[in-house]
Amino acid sequence: MEGFKASAVYQIYTKSFQDSNGDGLGDIRGVISRLDYIKEQGADYIWLTPFFKSPLNDNGYDVSDYLSVDPVFGTMEDVEELIAQAEARGIGCMFDMVFNHTSTEHAWFRKALAGDPEYMDYYIFRDGEPDVPPTNWESKFGGSAWEYVPHLKKWYLHLFDVTQADLNWDNPKVREELKNVIRFWKNKGVKGFRFDVVNLISKPEAFENDYAGDGRRFYTDGPHVHEYLQELTRDTGIASMVTVGEMSSTSLENCIRYSRPEDKELTMCFNFHHLKVDYKDGDKWKLKEPDLGELKRLFTEWQEGMEKAGGWNAVFWCNHDQPRAVSRFGDDRKYWKESAKTLAIVAHMFRGTPYVYQGEELGMTNPRYSDISQYRDVESINYYKILQERGASKEEALAVLGERSRDNGRTPMQWKAGPNAGFTDGEPWIGIPENHSYINVEEENKDEDSILSCYKKLIRLRKEYRVIAEGDIGFIYRDHPQVLAYRRRTEEEELIVLANMTGREAALAPAFDAGGWELLTASWKEAPAQAEGEIRMLRPFESQVWRKSR
Ligand code: GLC
Repeated sequence: MEGFKASAVYQIYTKSFQDSNGDGLGDIRGVISRLDYIKEQGADYIWLTPFFKSPLNDNGYDVSDYLSVDPVFGTMEDVEELIAQAEARGIGCMFDMVFNHTSTEHAWFRKALAGDPEYMDYYIFRDGEPDVPPTNWESKFGGSAWEYVPHLKKWYLHLFDVTQADLNWDNPKVREELKNVIRFWKNKGVKGFRFDVVNLISKPEAFENDYAGDGRRFYTDGPHVHEYLQELTRDTGIASMVTVGEMSSTSLENCIRYSRPEDKELTMCFNFHHLKVDYKDGDKWKLKEPDLGELKRLFTEWQEGMEKAGGWNAVFWCNHDQPRAVSRFGDDRKYWKESAKTLAIVAHMFRGTPYVYQGEELGMTNPRYSDISQYRDVESINYYKILQERGASKEEALAVLGERSRDNGRTPMQWKAGPNAGFTDGEPWIGIPENHSYINVEEENKDEDSILSCYKKLIRLRKEYRVIAEGDIGFIYRDHPQVLAYRRRTEEEELIVLANMTGREAALAPAFDAGGWELLTASWKEAPAQAEGEIRMLRPFESQVWRKSR
């Protein structure tokens, strides 16, 4: 069995996981102190969000030196100890490579700003008049994607914050520099890499205005992206490691190529289409209820499509850029436990490698902040203004942030009830939801029926039953308005997953024979209702995993 198929990855948002020195920010020593917790869950890898030297304008996704550790997170010795301590527990470290852009504080960009032509060619500079950007492309964090540098009389491209300048991957020197970063961390014993927005690295030859969108169609899955990834993987010898690319607004066809073993690009891909089913008109900043039909359609397309072509998915609901899944697709009040477990079951039984984002395994919720001063994220702060410019009142803008802000997923890990949830002895950098009084590791560890126990069990099952890691997949009840269901199969075993994704009972005509099935796990504690005549009833957010030998 290929290792990554039976593996699970635990994502740590370093800044919010565990503080060890009382400054209110999570750090590497904090992570070390919690390795046993991760081990208990059965995770094979930890992915740590960036802790490299950074002005932290985008919480570390603005790297100013890839080869050193930012003092707020610790030292190089701490990171070496983390790698060793993780390895001693059978956990591999995956580090986060932010290679689409650097911080404008990076030495390369500073030299570029000083007018050094060699380093200007590391970035994407274009001539232009001070008030006419080279194209009308928008930054993903709001505003123009270009910034004018008066003394150079040129604009530079930044698809993200103005302090995150896009690198010029068409320059072979840039590609060499980045390979050296990989080699450096590989030599330290890192077992895998996550590549940040890596499908944006190859920009088009000609830059043109986008009259139908924000520009993304010109640089997403760009002209040389596959070639550059193959080169990176080949020249750094990481083909046998676990690598995952974050793919922004990508396509199935491209993700097949990124992750198909024969292309030797990456092990797997994150895509985000399923996390846009609650965007009205495709706009993140316009709210609508999640469209379950669309969610089912997308999962079917991606799960079946990747299988057919031999690609591999990274499966996830949550990360540090997303609101909490239980608040978004579940019901974080009435069916908190059942809906959190159902989301977990659906993802962990899919074909692909599951990623658990810190706190997801506890059913952590959005914090429901009531004031803009509680937000920290640059994107949220920008959009609070932009939404008001577009006509929203303060209250309306806050209501949108309450659902969409990335800070929803960045509140500190809830270790226990009591002061600061056990995250820090100091003042946490961002507020902690009240519900840490009952949503916390200490409580949930004591309870066999907790969400945490469910996650542990799901990871255990993946290692126990080959069908979960390796089986093929086909969706059933395809048109059911409430139930997401699929079948997994190997030659020896078969699995059926039924999940009522709504807060209402759902009726299901049996689509498979009754005999010989064993219930592996379920979201409701109480035993499943018996099929009544021809109809099986699923309670609100009830999900079940059935298995039998073939
Ligand atoms: C990715 C990261 C996100 C960051 C952005 C720019 O989407 O996950 O946190 O802001 O890239 O690096």
